[in-house]
Amino acid sequence: MSDVKDKAEVTETSEAEIAVHWAEEELVYPSAQFIAQANVTDPAVYDRFSLENFPNCFKEYADLLSWDEYWHTMLDTSDAPCFKWFVGGKINASYNCIDRHLAKNKNKTAIHFVSEVESEKVEHVTYQELYVRVNEFAAILRDECGLKAGDRVTLHMPMVAELPITMLACARLGIIHSQVFGGFSGQACADRIVDSGSEYLITMDAYYRSGQLIDHKEKADTALAQAAKEGQNVKKVLVWQRYPGKYSAATPMVEGRDFFVNDLLKKYYGVRVAPVSMPAEAVLFLMYTSGTTGKPKGAQHSTGGYLAYVTGTSKYIQDIHPEDVYWCMADIGWITGHSYIVYGPLALCASTVIYEGVPTYPDAGRPWRIAQDLDVNIFHTAPTAIRALRKIGPDEPAKYTYHFKHMTTVGEPIEPVVWKWYYEFVGKKEAIIVDTWWQTENGGFLCSTIPAIKPMKPGSAGPGVPGIHPIVYDNDGVVVPSGSGKAGNICIQNPWPGMFQSIWGDRDRFVKTYFERYCKDPKSTRWQDWPYLTGDAAVVGADGYVRILGRIDDVINVSGHRLGTKELESAALTVPEVAEAAVVPVKHEIKGVEPDMYIALKPGMVASPELAKKISMAIVTEIGAIARPKSVWIVPDMPKTRSGKIMRRVLGAISNGTDIGDVMTLANPEIVEAIQKMVQGK
Ligand code: PRX
Repeated sequence: MSDVKDKAEVTETSEAEIAVHWAEEELVYPSAQFIAQANVTDPAVYDRFSLENFPNCFKEYADLLSWDEYWHTMLDTSDAPCFKWFVGGKINASYNCIDRHLAKNKNKTAIHFVSEVESEKVEHVTYQELYVRVNEFAAILRDECGLKAGDRVTLHMPMVAELPITMLACARLGIIHSQVFGGFSGQACADRIVDSGSEYLITMDAYYRSGQLIDHKEKADTALAQAAKEGQNVKKVLVWQRYPGKYSAATPMVEGRDFFVNDLLKKYYGVRVAPVSMPAEAVLFLMYTSGTTGKPKGAQHSTGGYLAYVTGTSKYIQDIHPEDVYWCMADIGWITGHSYIVYGPLALCASTVIYEGVPTYPDAGRPWRIAQDLDVNIFHTAPTAIRALRKIGPDEPAKYTYHFKHMTTVGEPIEPVVWKWYYEFVGKKEAIIVDTWWQTENGGFLCSTIPAIKPMKPGSAGPGVPGIHPIVYDNDGVVVPSGSGKAGNICIQNPWPGMFQSIWGDRDRFVKTYFERYCKDPKSTRWQDWPYLTGDAAVVGADGYVRILGRIDDVINVSGHRLGTKELESAALTVPEVAEAAVVPVKHEIKGVEPDMYIALKPGMVASPELAKKISMAIVTEIGAIARPKSVWIVPDMPKTRSGKIMRRVLGAISNGTDIGDVMTLANPEIVEAIQKMVQGK
């Protein structure tokens, strides 16, 4: 009991603050070898990109691109918070990712496509081949579909080389692409077709997932039927074939509506399409992201600003050189794939790897074999994949002779123990790690270390990247000082070129969701009055390193103590048997809420009441009795989204006995019933 009291005294916080219990982690320094080859080693970069030099600092990023017409105004704030970058500039994204590299590098691999079927040969698409394929497909878009600059087209494609080819063909003509994650349902695709007003759908017949050749064309039929019901008619469906010349889906083609790209291509052999010079502010693509409520939001990204930002951050933070082989394991259906598989690396003339399938198929050694065979030296993935690989094959990386110089983690907070496994076993203590914090809406990184300049701190993303100036506010809009040990709502003080322009067709929602909360004057046209609300809770150390605690909504308030769920989960992960942990709030009459803990174990580990107790004790030891979970549920697996994020919403509903809602879009919906039985006994 005394433990509760002591802890309560130490962590007393106001309602607006989130108590922070993280222990400071030791810094880890980049090797001399890494620094010797890095793109940026001079700390003066932080001065060049200081707030005093804002916004002109971003000329450095704009100048990494080839402009058809150079811009005259760096930042136009007259329509705040819809900021315009590089006004007056004209540019083509496809030209910047392909044509400009041909003179020196046409024979270089742009894309290594790795089939999930391990016996199939890797396809190496050179920059010359990419040029040819993009041009011919652009001709189809123009001549068979009549598509032109400003039109929207929905893509619903798997992880294949044809996906960036399609995106770059759209970009060549100034057509706005909206790629829907391939794992999403026909209904989800329909919602995005309707919202974007697309009249054409581009898809593929089939792709491999966990050893199965899945019929993907089927989803196009559902999508079109649903979209039509909602008033959006799609005129044509262009179907790429996983095996050119062969139809791999069981679903029939619809006469007069569905066309095989490979058939159409015959007519366009050798055709070249001049890149259309687009205003910097033209929309390059839409990327839909779900909000906590309401329909998905189409984050609208610009051409010049976005491309400059992802190119700059790919160079400075990803440390990509043209000679690197770079593999980001994300799906191109997410923003990470758009920015850091396609646009950033290709703008820098790197070789980018596209892997079709599941990282743990056929076994946990697969990623390391791919890395070894292609001599990948920059590796980029998410904590969920790292946990999965650690769970099923902790010793696998040691069996292979690949060498990474650089590794990235993105997508959610990484627990220090998972970070350390990544560093020690995947990176073999040779690779630096950047923990990059950002969002679909941001276009590119917000916080991360610059790898050759700043040391790493496990569990912390690091300071704002060049030109990004974070600030933490409490609920009343008072600044929470760095180093105070207190957390709050993290915002970005200034706009940046990669930031989305608006929510497609819904400016009001854009302003409300991201700016209203801390806007100093809704009529102001000064950027200083429009801090961007990220929706994440964070604590900033005295060294300026940002530690993300999760979404503001994920914070659990126990008896007036606001606890970051991530801290509790991280404490559970210090127990060696634990592979994954998720915390959700359960209603409690007196305390308001209590944390409930869900645990998935490493293979071969057996659930027992003793183990549950051990996990509970780990939380009490690391954080305090205030955080002691109501229950520790050791479950066979976590319910997860297709992108691998644990669905805390579903677990929360189970713990509270409320409606779990629709779970059909989960990667593993069957697990929900099993957990329900365990927790609710039914
Ligand atoms: O909560 C943060 C978390 O993921 C959210 C953004 O998700 P999404 O738009 O899907 O973009 C993911 C890829 C950029 C953020 O609000 N998040 C993302 N990266 C990190 C993170 N949390 C902690 N550390 C990160 N490195």
